[in-house]
Amino acid sequence: MNHRAPRLLIFDSGVGGLSIVADVQQLLPGCAITYASDNAAFPYGTKGEAELVERVDAVLRALIDKVEPDVVVVACNSASTLALPQIRAHFTVPIVGVVPAIKPAAAQSRSRVIGLLATPGTVARAYTRDLIARFASDCTVVSQGSSELVHRAEEHLRGKTVTTESLRELLSPLFAHPRFADMDTLVLACTHFPLLRPQLQALLGDRITLVDSGEAIARRVSYWLDELKLTPGATSTEHTAVFTRHSEDVEGLKPALKVLGIDTVEWRLM
Ligand code: DGL
Repeated sequence: MNHRAPRLLIFDSGVGGLSIVADVQQLLPGCAITYASDNAAFPYGTKGEAELVERVDAVLRALIDKVEPDVVVVACNSASTLALPQIRAHFTVPIVGVVPAIKPAAAQSRSRVIGLLATPGTVARAYTRDLIARFASDCTVVSQGSSELVHRAEEHLRGKTVTTESLRELLSPLFAHPRFADMDTLVLACTHFPLLRPQLQALLGDRITLVDSGEAIARRVSYWLDELKLTPGATSTEHTAVFTRHSEDVEGLKPALKVLGIDTVEWRLM
């Protein structure tokens, strides 16, 4: 067994992937995490597909060169539902993608009405439609794509108060759906959204169970570390955040980064 701390590269357009970092740290505290935000190209969820595949490929190439990770997590549903086949073909390092948790949501829904809250890109993807057809074909799936909610999560992590009430209007398409009253499960299919989990749960009430992919992703990372015979230590190690654009508002994120033990901020401008 090799006793250096395993190196993980966890990547998103913005702060959303920090929800995945939290889940990974919970299961695997002793990994050295580089969190990368492609803030130069944020947001991903409204980008054209060709442009997004090209961008994710280029950014990952630069980051993998810089970090030399043992495992990469594309902690972004918008990117993973589109670009995984292409990027897996290019890189030899194991790549874990984050995709909508439709399968577990359908497995636990009793009412057979489930919600899907994601970016407009993720909602529209063929990959997402295929997940629904494979795992939730007997469910009514009520989908809403919202880029606004992504922005609210970014503000929340910079210390701005995002009230439950302020989210009510954003989610009005969901509330307005004729089957909303029967919905018992809602998939948070954008990694930004678990960052607003308390507000969303308060807004939706206890009737609706919120499901995301975080814990499953942490288990998948653990699987890869076992395969690679890398053992994480028992305690947390040093973590770094990398941004692709200099921006004043990265300052405002430092307290949220610190909570996750990310004390160093670096730049890989592109
Ligand atoms: N966090 C990302 C996701 O899981 C995307 C947010 C965005 O850049 O639009 O889809």
